[in-house]
Amino acid sequence: MSAIRRREAQVSFVGAGPGDPELLTIRALQRLQSARVVLHDALVPREILGLVPPDVRLISVGKRAGRHSMPQDRINTLLVRLARRGHRLVRLKGGDPAIFGRLAEEVSALKEAGVSYEVVPGITAASAAAAATGISLTLRGKARRVQFVTGHAEDGSDFDPVASGLCDPHVTSAIYMARKAAPKIQAGLLSAGWSGEAQALIVGNAGRADEVQIRTRLDALSRSLAALPRETAVILLLGAAIRGETRERAKPLNVPTAVHCPFENMTVPGRSRVKIP
Ligand SMILES: C[S@@+](CC[C@H](N)C(=O)[O-])C[C@H]1O[C@@H](n2cnc3c(N)ncnc32)[C@H](O)[C@@H]1O
Repeated sequence: MSAIRRREAQVSFVGAGPGDPELLTIRALQRLQSARVVLHDALVPREILGLVPPDVRLISVGKRAGRHSMPQDRINTLLVRLARRGHRLVRLKGGDPAIFGRLAEEVSALKEAGVSYEVVPGITAASAAAAATGISLTLRGKARRVQFVTGHAEDGSDFDPVASGLCDPHVTSAIYMARKAAPKIQAGLLSAGWSGEAQALIVGNAGRADEVQIRTRLDALSRSLAALPRETAVILLLGAAIRGETRERAKPLNVPTAVHCPFENMTVPGRSRVKIP
């Protein structure tokens, strides 16, 4: 069974975007308005759920960092069961369903059960945060790569900035679920040789009415993140695009002063070639 792009799909995985109803796609809105049952995550705000007709059954599966109100296998089973009953079913996920949304597990359960599905993409938090702050995630000649990174390790292991590719000088990293990992990100990058003055952007509830933007330094990252209410969804932007933007505005340059990365003959901004041991 493969994903199909038509109304007959038994289950529509729909990206709710960052939370502003105006940032939903037209197709997402159509699916919400023609559903019989909507299973949604906790991150999907009231403004979006308010677009679902009142006679549609809303089921919260409450997934939020560290507080899964329904285990993943029960969500999978529920999806299959409701789809088999012939309900037009929407599985509504924050942002884009294919980014840190456990889409693969749910799709796999549907495939096994022979249930057809489609995926309606949404605007992911990184794009919403970039739009909110007016930065470009790529910068010609400076940031040639953008990566979406999770700060949450399933096995509780330490966040490793090198393994996560954060210290490549040409990358912009959008770090999801960064709150708990912030001390590890901060310590890891500092011990990898980043300057404490390196700039970071924190965007809370990007794209919503209560959006918060904090520009901070790497050495104040944990403190800045801790200042935000627990309920605020937070994304962290680090790297080349943030530096590039800073560079136009302020001096001295807040760039990593030294980088230990497993990339041979890497060029670090403001320095000549770095010899990698
Ligand atoms: C399980 S992930 C889901 C990501 C989602 N699928 C997406 O594409 O944005 C949840 C994390 O996404 C980030 N996030 C989601 N919505 C956000 C928003 N409006 N503003 C900032 N970060 C957000 C936060 O890091 C949050 O902990």
